[in-house]
Amino acid sequence: ADETPLRVSVIGTGYLGATHAAAVAEMGFTVIGVDHDPAKIAALERGEVPFHEPGLPELIRTHVQTGRLSFTTDLAAAVAASDVHFICVGTPQQASSHAADLSFVEGATRAVAEALTHDGLIVGKSTVPVGTAARLREMVDAAAPAHLHVELDWNPEFLREGYAVEDTLRPDRVVIGGASPWAEEQLRRLYGPAIAAGAPVVTCDLPTAELVKVSANAFLATKISFINAIAEMCEKTGADVTTLADAIGYDARIGRRFLNAGLGFGGGCLPKDIRALTHRASELGALQVAGLMQQVDEINMSQRQRVVELAMEACPVNILNARVAVLGAAFKPDTDDVRDSPALNVAAALHLRGALVSVYDPEASATARRSFPTLSYAATLEAAVTGADLVLVLTEWPEIVGADPVTLGRLVAHRAVVDGRRCLPAAAWRDAGWRVRTLGSAA
Ligand code: UGA
Repeated sequence: ADETPLRVSVIGTGYLGATHAAAVAEMGFTVIGVDHDPAKIAALERGEVPFHEPGLPELIRTHVQTGRLSFTTDLAAAVAASDVHFICVGTPQQASSHAADLSFVEGATRAVAEALTHDGLIVGKSTVPVGTAARLREMVDAAAPAHLHVELDWNPEFLREGYAVEDTLRPDRVVIGGASPWAEEQLRRLYGPAIAAGAPVVTCDLPTAELVKVSANAFLATKISFINAIAEMCEKTGADVTTLADAIGYDARIGRRFLNAGLGFGGGCLPKDIRALTHRASELGALQVAGLMQQVDEINMSQRQRVVELAMEACPVNILNARVAVLGAAFKPDTDDVRDSPALNVAAALHLRGALVSVYDPEASATARRSFPTLSYAATLEAAVTGADLVLVLTEWPEIVGADPVTLGRLVAHRAVVDGRRCLPAAAWRDAGWRVRTLGSAA
């Protein structure tokens, strides 16, 4: 086997790229992270990450020190110094059509192809609509210097925010799409430590690799919308959806994870990926998938509306000028990401109805303020609830779930709480004199 050390470039240093670059350095290879934003590059060199991701700043600092990890804005220099080039740029949702915006992926891939000075492997990691990689391959063939051996493959990423480092170093599986034996060998070397630790390798063609990624997220989203649909039945009949999820989850074919009913999914991936899938499926005439995904999206968005209605019902005073404490702004705990956050969506809807909304989040206040500057933000949980007529729990941070209902009860104007994540110990809150309304439970 070839033992020359692999040199790697990673184009794009957002969530995916920064984590991937650090992880590849941790696995023993030399990595150059590339981004067009000089401020971002300077910060990364100091080990500063512009988002909250446990363990990532430390890992970056470690490998900037070992010399295995560096950052640059000079794409051509990075490409010239590397053998494997990962495309890790974003594929945001287009405002008009809900389709994925592929301009960054296309731009980065073209730039790498044009900058190649020796044989190389371009590996796409971004989440793209099926069919994209084949088009990129043609583009690379046309753009790369003709005398070089260049290959484009697809290797999707499945990391979760908040667990990005762990998920990248110990993935559930490694998917390698479109690779020739030579390229597969390179990628197996690169992921050697993860494979040795037991991660199965799935080799497939380009469209399968692209669709594996999209289907995984679509399935997770479907699980959540499924349990939220069942929660509506529970709400009407007095059945308990949490016990139900436990009970069906014991069946290994079903599994308990991603069956937590509540406000539903948000973030930078699940919502945009199911919409991109709906769009791509319609283009391809795969109408069943498009319909299914549309339904999953609708159920998910209606959860936000239901929490707004529940809040209106539960508010002991007129919602106009009512003081509403919103606990949680991030789309899930352990992140400061507020992209498509259900919590902020609900907060903004109540603000529009005239409520005086005070938002508290342990990590996401600053990012939330940037996206929703008209809401007011409290520095502590206590400050947010002081004088409140209604408390809404919208992100299940441990600090919020574990808050003492007796202490909080002394601070509020009215002891009324709506649990949008089914995460509070309702009995303890009721014992402390609170009226508790829980999404998915009968009144
Ligand atoms: C998701 C996938 O879980 C990752 O595997 C994937 O790699 C990533 O998208 C991506 O495509 O990059 P992430 O967006 O970090 O990861 O968030 P999740 O942990 O999946 O949570 C998504 C949302 O679902 C959150 O808003 C969460 O509150 C909600 N959720 C999750 C529920 O409402 N119920 C559940 O039972 C689980």
